[in-house]
Amino acid sequence: MSKVIIGGSSSYVLAVKIARELNAPLLTTEIKKFPDGEKYIRIEGDLNGVDAVVVQSMYLNPDEYLMEYFLMVEALKDSGAKKVTGIIPYFAYARQDKRFNPGEALSLKTVSKLIETVGTDQIFTVDMHLHRVDDMRKIFKIPAKNLTAIPDIASYIGANLSLQKPLIIGPDEEAEQWAKLAAEQLGTEYDVLEKKRLSSTEVEITTREIEVKNRDIVIIDDIISTGGTIAKTIETLKKKGAKKIVAACTHPVLVDNALKKIYTAGAYTVIGTTTIPSPISVVEIAGTLAKALT
Ligand code: R5P
Repeated sequence: MSKVIIGGSSSYVLAVKIARELNAPLLTTEIKKFPDGEKYIRIEGDLNGVDAVVVQSMYLNPDEYLMEYFLMVEALKDSGAKKVTGIIPYFAYARQDKRFNPGEALSLKTVSKLIETVGTDQIFTVDMHLHRVDDMRKIFKIPAKNLTAIPDIASYIGANLSLQKPLIIGPDEEAEQWAKLAAEQLGTEYDVLEKKRLSSTEVEITTREIEVKNRDIVIIDDIISTGGTIAKTIETLKKKGAKKIVAACTHPVLVDNALKKIYTAGAYTVIGTTTIPSPISVVEIAGTLAKALT
């Protein structure tokens, strides 16, 4: 059973690249919005018996992209698709995996349940924001794999940025796993800072015992959203005498003036991957996703 690739409107270019990597056909999809805001989806071609891969990141308009995803998967299954794999490179709603206050929606639970209900047979995502969940089987009943973009990011840094034995910094404890991985690949050291969130846009960073003076630094995180975490981290490191500071992330969500904030803080450059199309998405993730499918 050969694969066919379908790109949702958030990830069309990534779907094209995955199709090329796999030498698989990319099906033509008509996606439009009715005047009242409802979505219309049509996937062209003979869908009977196909092994379909739907690529759809959930960035910036997650509700809209989720709805498209549900319509695409159910349309495929209803039309006879044998298997549907969902590639959701940036998985929104992952942060609300816990009821922090009574009555709150467990958004991750609801979203994962709906993804399964429409007929998804397996899921791949990338560096999912899993701070309290240590196993994808606690989220999905279907096979689900959380891939990492860090090797691609580290390769890019090694090949394209002339840094002097950079120190890799994770801005918080959760980022330690990514900092460690990147440091191992680049043959250098890593450390982690401690972050205290003051509000949804403000954080305070304190350092551990770490010598950053006159060193090039690479800050690695899963998401750059408002840029507050990275900007504060850069300010802290600059005060301690760091030289060039590169900020790298898997998912460049980049809301508000994130990039402006980070460059104003003194970043040398900011890079992210193609899990989300953005002005800094220079690290290609298509190869890693295609490899996971084979
Ligand atoms: C938080 O735990 C994440 O790993 C990121 O550090 C966070 O999402 C970044 O958000 P922002 O760019 O808004 O500070």
